[in-house]
Amino acid sequence: ALVYVLNGPNLNMLGVRETSVYGTIDLAGIEKLVHARAERLGMTAEFRQTNHEGVLLDWVHESHARGAVGMVINPGALTHTSIALHDAIKAISLPVIELHLSNVFARESFRHHSWVSPAAKGVICGFGPKGYELALEALASSVSAQ
Ligand code: DQA
Repeated sequence: ALVYVLNGPNLNMLGVRETSVYGTIDLAGIEKLVHARAERLGMTAEFRQTNHEGVLLDWVHESHARGAVGMVINPGALTHTSIALHDAIKAISLPVIELHLSNVFARESFRHHSWVSPAAKGVICGFGPKGYELALEALASSVSAQ
């Protein structure tokens, strides 16, 4: 089963960026965790990052076209700004898990609203890189429950 694991703006800077908030693991380290966990769950992960909103939208559409069974997405700050991303997720009939490394609710109030959450199957935040593995597990059980 194919699952898309998509990352939005500034997540390429993990390991360097605000390490007190996001920790010291870089995106390549997270990608390794994701592939290992996906394999154990019998899934294949397509793992990508972009700083461009339109590219992220294209990948959301592509996941549907390629017959993915679900998606984990960390949209970065697009979470809080992008109605287009909300619409793209609504347009694909796949379970989508919204994921944040940090607990956005314990941070600035501008991070408390998400355009993605109403279109998502569920949300995981605050568990750092482990959250990606938790999200894959949630996806695996919601896919097998279908
Ligand atoms: C983030 C939280 C967002 O508010 C922020 O803009 C990010 C990262 C997270 O993983 O904690 O870029 O999505």
